[in-house]
Amino acid sequence: MHASSSIKSVLQSATLQLNTPEAKLEAQYLLQHVLQVNRAWLIAHENEALQASSHAAFEALLTRRMQGEPVAYILGYREFYGLTLKVSPDTLIPRADTETLVEAALNKLVSFTTKNPTILDLGTGSGAIALAVAKNFPIAFVTAVDASKGALNIAQQNAQKLEISNIQFILSDWFGELNDKKFDLIVSNPPYIENADAHLRQGDLRFEPISALASGVDGLDDIRQIIGECLIYLKPQGWIMLEHGYNQAQAVTDLMASIGLTHIESIKDLGGHQRVTIGKNPLIVSTHWSA
Ligand SMILES: C[S@@+](CC[C@H](N)C(=O)[O-])C[C@H]1O[C@@H](n2cnc3c(N)ncnc32)[C@H](O)[C@@H]1O
Repeated sequence: MHASSSIKSVLQSATLQLNTPEAKLEAQYLLQHVLQVNRAWLIAHENEALQASSHAAFEALLTRRMQGEPVAYILGYREFYGLTLKVSPDTLIPRADTETLVEAALNKLVSFTTKNPTILDLGTGSGAIALAVAKNFPIAFVTAVDASKGALNIAQQNAQKLEISNIQFILSDWFGELNDKKFDLIVSNPPYIENADAHLRQGDLRFEPISALASGVDGLDDIRQIIGECLIYLKPQGWIMLEHGYNQAQAVTDLMASIGLTHIESIKDLGGHQRVTIGKNPLIVSTHWSA
């Protein structure tokens, strides 16, 4: 049983205990979740006493966070490109860096002359990229695939809740179930971390699905496969845009060049790292070139 404490003192104590770079904000998020209030309410009522039952519920969430569980999994959602997305341990937690890929896709879509462009999101996870693009470019039709049933289920729930209907979901090992479908634009944030990278066993990454993160010795196994097969699924003059690691832009550029893509360019994220590389199918008639 907790002695009655003010909201302010509970938050201050939690901030000290958490000792993470975003401790103050994280403590606020957790208490907002318990009280089901917004940040403005929390600040306006900071001198009020916190009920014992709410305090106990908050302490339970705080303990989970102190054991390393990401805030997004504790809350069950994450904001991405203005959308509130449900997330679970089946899905990667969408990152702010991935908004760079969404921006690049939306900028390119505006220049398309096709009336209703078709877009493929490979490895959709929570549906973050696919839903952000579908929502902000409603005349497009998005196909979102993932090899994880659990992730696809969450992505479908997000589409329903957000009432986004210009989208379909397919359980597929990359292009495996797409048959003869072809797309104006392929986007993907595939796994791209080296298998041996120590970060996979540290911090928040420990809680995320390894199948969403790691991709072979150099982190490029999935990117190699996606680029190797993309010309079969790209319409003539179609574009592919891939997110990758901060140090992988040259490797991705070389892979794209090796299959004959043109207009290859890397785009920086908010932190100034080359995060997304794009390329264009130069062909009038789509064929598959082997690398
Ligand atoms: C880095 S996460 C990206 C999730 C989401 N697009 C985002 O940006 O938040 C990579 C996603 O690829 C999926 N994935 C991994 N291997 C796959 C495969 N062989 N075929 C299809 N999807 C795969 C994972 O399940 C995961 O959802």
